[in-house]
Amino acid sequence: MAQFVIQGGAQLGGEIAVSGAKNSVLKLIASTILLHGDTTITRVPQAQDVFRMCEILSSVGAAVDSSDNTVRINTDAITQTTLPQDLVKRLRASTVLIGPMLARHGEVRLAYPGGCVLGKRPIDLFVASMRVMGAEVEEQEESFVFHAKKLKGAEYFFPLVSVTATENMMMAATLAEGRTLIKNAACEPEIPHLAEFLNFCGARISGAGTHTIIIDGVKELHGGEVETVPDRIETGTFAILAAAARARIKITHCRPDHVESLWAMFDRMGIPYAIGPDWVEVQKTDKPYPAVEVTTKEYPGFMTDLQPPFTVLLTQAQGMSLVHETIYDGRLFYLDKLNTMGAYTLLCDPHRAVVQGTRKLHGKQLESPDLRAGIALVIAGLIAEGTTTIDNIYQIERGYEHIDERLRALGADIKRVEKSV
Ligand code: EPU
Repeated sequence: MAQFVIQGGAQLGGEIAVSGAKNSVLKLIASTILLHGDTTITRVPQAQDVFRMCEILSSVGAAVDSSDNTVRINTDAITQTTLPQDLVKRLRASTVLIGPMLARHGEVRLAYPGGCVLGKRPIDLFVASMRVMGAEVEEQEESFVFHAKKLKGAEYFFPLVSVTATENMMMAATLAEGRTLIKNAACEPEIPHLAEFLNFCGARISGAGTHTIIIDGVKELHGGEVETVPDRIETGTFAILAAAARARIKITHCRPDHVESLWAMFDRMGIPYAIGPDWVEVQKTDKPYPAVEVTTKEYPGFMTDLQPPFTVLLTQAQGMSLVHETIYDGRLFYLDKLNTMGAYTLLCDPHRAVVQGTRKLHGKQLESPDLRAGIALVIAGLIAEGTTTIDNIYQIERGYEHIDERLRALGADIKRVEKSV
């Protein structure tokens, strides 16, 4: 068990490089189940969720070899179709293994996936989309069994836009018989990136990155080499940190064009920044920021994953801001923790909150409820007066590689302390 201990108020500045995206690499790893031969994935973030995904693949018989930020995988020797319950319960994204396992092995058994408070959301869209492709799905009390001798191409309109359910169906369809049409597909940048990799491996996917994806099934796919796309959530998080800490920070090795909704918000708030092809520099300003309204939306709208850090920034804006979280129930339930630090936020209903600024924050003893709320508390601790301790940092390390070291390089006073139990 470890915790972060943060002394707030240190002047931040300098450069920080963005890692490969956790939410891209998890799907790239899952997609190797479809591939014959070796695959090499580079720019892999050393994050706990990535370790769990690799452990799941190893446990069913795949050869997985990781060193630094590279993972080599060969799934030809997979023999098991039951995914280990303890790992699935720790990783919501294990749902993206359903399609590849069904397509290549005709069966998959898994427990109800978990991860964090948000991870226990429904998987009905996975079930429905696999059923239209001919899979039989048995729902037991605590688990699911999916069977399909051979998946068949089908047309499916997602009643709700879902990133992982889109990716899962797209992967399943690459080895199905005939044509699949995914309608109302999610458009997040990780989806066309995954499609591009699978096409390189022999798949026939078009339209990824739009709301309609067409996949013509092929008999076999081969392995390849792929570099993980830069993490747009990290890019946005570091930019928000710079604005909240009134620091000049250059964020490098990123894709600023994947985070346009945040730059639009910075424009509205008068936060100065400059953008290059693979960097963004947030400049230091003493001007007050005005309060704004922000509504989370599917890509290219304002990312739900940036909502908690952005709310911390809004505590430093003048006046009353409104935060409207439309993607998740429960993604505003960290606000009570911010309030204990001196913020003034009011939860109007599970999806809407008002944030009254400007408020001085002070250090507190806290626990990280989930990944993105956890990093928001880190940002709050960095701009607060005094000492903040954050427990349950597994939830933060699920998605951010060596975050304490990287923040220290910007001048942050943050220590990772092992706690004796
Ligand atoms: N939903 C259902 N049924 C389903 C699937 C989803 O009702 O079968 C609902 C969810 O409960 C949610 C909404 O659909 O209310 C949208 O969720 P979505 O399925 O798009 O989320 P996801 O695919 O499970 C991915 C990211 C999330 C990110 C969301 C939205 C991965 C591994 N996870 O989740 O990332 O917030 O898309 O962009 O790609 C994170 O990294 O912290 C994280 C939670």
